[in-house]
Amino acid sequence: MESKLNEIKEKAIEEISKLDDISSLEDFRVRYLGKKGELTLILREMGKLTKEERPIIGNLANQVRSFIEGLIKEKGNYLNEKELKERLEEEAIDVTMPSKRNKRGNKHPLTKTIDEIKEIFIGMGYEVAQGPEIETNYYNFDALNIPRNHPARDTQDTFYINDDFVLRTATSPVQIRIMENKKPPIKIISPGKVYRADEVDATHSPIFHQVEGLVVDKNVTMGDLIGTIEVFAKKLFGENTKIRLRPHYFPFTEPSAEFDVSCWNCGGTGCKTCKDEGFIEILGAGMVHPNVLKICGIDPNEYSGFAFGLGVERTTMGRYNIDDIRLFYENDIRFLEQF
Ligand code: DAH
Repeated sequence: MESKLNEIKEKAIEEISKLDDISSLEDFRVRYLGKKGELTLILREMGKLTKEERPIIGNLANQVRSFIEGLIKEKGNYLNEKELKERLEEEAIDVTMPSKRNKRGNKHPLTKTIDEIKEIFIGMGYEVAQGPEIETNYYNFDALNIPRNHPARDTQDTFYINDDFVLRTATSPVQIRIMENKKPPIKIISPGKVYRADEVDATHSPIFHQVEGLVVDKNVTMGDLIGTIEVFAKKLFGENTKIRLRPHYFPFTEPSAEFDVSCWNCGGTGCKTCKDEGFIEILGAGMVHPNVLKICGIDPNEYSGFAFGLGVERTTMGRYNIDDIRLFYENDIRFLEQF
């Protein structure tokens, strides 16, 4: 029996050295120390021993048991530590790995155009002003010298809130609000939404955007207006852009003109984009009418000014070759993603 106990001990030492995970260590414990384990079975046979042998063998058996228990404990510690180490390595986070990118949105093409226009004028020393989209008849029409019989006043063309209030038909009323509150020198642009009772089609929308411009100071001339628009057009459409003026009429400017730029598609030779004209209209402008200055408390004998109003949709359609204004408002991501 003594040799059997030693055998068990040797076998245990050898077997345990081969184990390399916690669950097989548990199997090992059951196999040696469990109720039907090798050591337990031997101890059950103690009855067969003589009185003298019993304490000696008993003692030895206990030593072997606590030896194996020690082995298990030691191996258990080792394996636990090993498994922890492996798990930590496996689950370690590599902070230098590139992260999953969130899909990034982009600016709406109209916002892009407005931002670029702002940038250009801010670069020329202009400030950006805002005005309300619901205007009084006074600011939208009267103060802008727009006569009672002007078509813009017609209910067919304009959204009236009631007899006194309209959704502004242009950004021009901001000119009045600025001049009422600030004495010259004035140098502002004002981008924003405007409203007209137009049927929706490929080139019309009842809501669209304009950028208004206003400069008032001593000795401001038409030459300043032309120079300003030329610099602006070259910055927005490219260095080779040429400008052209056509005489026009606006109630709030005198003289007035429409400004064209050489076609961004063909450069001026004529193509489908410019309908073979070589030029495309981008804005209306002129010298601020003396009546308008007077109404705002500015002496037209002392000061003069120029103003302009540009259509953002039309400009954007030209720059990006967009042939239907409705695309701007439908929020189709496939369209918006292209800018
Ligand atoms: N308000 C005009 C329109 O909506 C555009 C315009 C023309 C604005 C001439 C101006 C200007 O400031 O001087 O058609």
